[in-house]
Amino acid sequence: MSKICVIGTGYVGLVTGVCFADLGNEVTCLDVDQTRIERLKQGIMPIYEPGLEQLVSQNVRAGRLAFTTDYRQALDGAEFAFIAVGTPSGVDGEADLQYVRMAAEAIADIAKGYLIIVNKSTVPVGTGDWITDIIRRRRNGTRPLLQFSVVSNPEFLREGSAINDFMYPDRIVLGSTDRQAASKVAELYVSLRCPILITDLRTAEMIKYASNAFLATRISFINEIANICEELGADVQEVALGMGYDKRIGPAFLDAGLGWGGSCFPKDVKALAHMAVLHGTQPQLLQAVMEINRNQRRRVVYKLRKALNNLDEKIIGILGLSFKPNTDDIREAPAIDLIHLLQNEGAIIQAYDPQAMENARQVLKRVKLCETPYEVAQGADALVLATEWNEFKQLDFERIYQLMRQPIIMDGRNLWNPEPLRSIGFTYFGVGRGADNHINNHQPET
Ligand code: UDX
Repeated sequence: MSKICVIGTGYVGLVTGVCFADLGNEVTCLDVDQTRIERLKQGIMPIYEPGLEQLVSQNVRAGRLAFTTDYRQALDGAEFAFIAVGTPSGVDGEADLQYVRMAAEAIADIAKGYLIIVNKSTVPVGTGDWITDIIRRRRNGTRPLLQFSVVSNPEFLREGSAINDFMYPDRIVLGSTDRQAASKVAELYVSLRCPILITDLRTAEMIKYASNAFLATRISFINEIANICEELGADVQEVALGMGYDKRIGPAFLDAGLGWGGSCFPKDVKALAHMAVLHGTQPQLLQAVMEINRNQRRRVVYKLRKALNNLDEKIIGILGLSFKPNTDDIREAPAIDLIHLLQNEGAIIQAYDPQAMENARQVLKRVKLCETPYEVAQGADALVLATEWNEFKQLDFERIYQLMRQPIIMDGRNLWNPEPLRSIGFTYFGVGRGADNHINNHQPET
């Protein structure tokens, strides 16, 4: 059992805190946001994540998990302080480190004895050294010296499966100049039985960026292949399947669609490209990866414009607003970009999402938010599937056909089987399903 303080109760901090508590540690989660902490104490989660609420209440009841806004209370007797605060994108795509700085300064002001500071926030390469400097400078000899080590421990949690990802990780990465401190952090994870890689600080920080940028690259790659498939009459889903059987390639992250969004990929690819330019290198591939991602959204608008002649005053129904299923997160969600692009051309939007309606209400203007997928279809000139939620898999398409003004479906995630839809009478567009268009457009002569 170790005594752990986790600073930041966002996605990463909360999941990290509750999971360490569940492994038997004594955890205090701290946030400077009073309301958030009050709500957490009442068992109200700030985010939607399957299984989180139950795990939090179990561990609070067992006396292993507590919430506070008071650094003194959180750091009292703590052996580890995890920093898990937000690092949003600044104006040029650089990671904004103001919250990391605030956490480091608070630690410098309040911590006593020996503390291992573990950084989980995604931060530019070199930030671990910067944290060390901040604490040293602030603790400038006027008070008793703080013995501390800084360890970088990037997180690889996916929204929607974060608890499972924490409990069954592919690997744990720990970077530090102090190997003993890194080994102490490794002990916290030892029961998870996965490879633990110990590196220097900067390498660990880079592993996080490189991993996310690589996954984003795979998606942009398959999206580029999808667009070529459409023109050449091939089916990208089968192409991906055929590629994925190759063990050197593997099947994951090869789903073509509207592209990647969320709180990590867009921010991290941008930040990595920014770091590269700042240090005199040309991140050509990363630039292309981002541009392809933007184009996936524009391409849908182009297809709809072509199908409907123009978009002015056309009613477009959008199914799914979150950046992926099983989350209420709409940050950089393809659906949100798409809505803005469509509105710019005069389209009227009606939309529905199983979880993200509240968040969407905050950012969307002039959008009719509907109660059901069928209300979205009502009177629509086209229906766009933006997020592949389970509840959209088995819709009553006969009913949808009756409800729509024009039976056009743009399946942005290749969720549906085109054939039954076409036999009902829909015009169906997927992403990279060129073989299908090919067969459709070039019926053999009889
Ligand atoms: C990601 C990383 O996977 C995780 O390791 C890191 O810690 C945080 O960022 P997350 O943002 O939760 O996790 O989502 P993820 O499941 O990775 O999906 C990211 C985006 O890529 C989503 O918009 C998703 O729709 C899209 N995607 C994913 C595709 O378009 N195609 C795919 O094949 C896979």
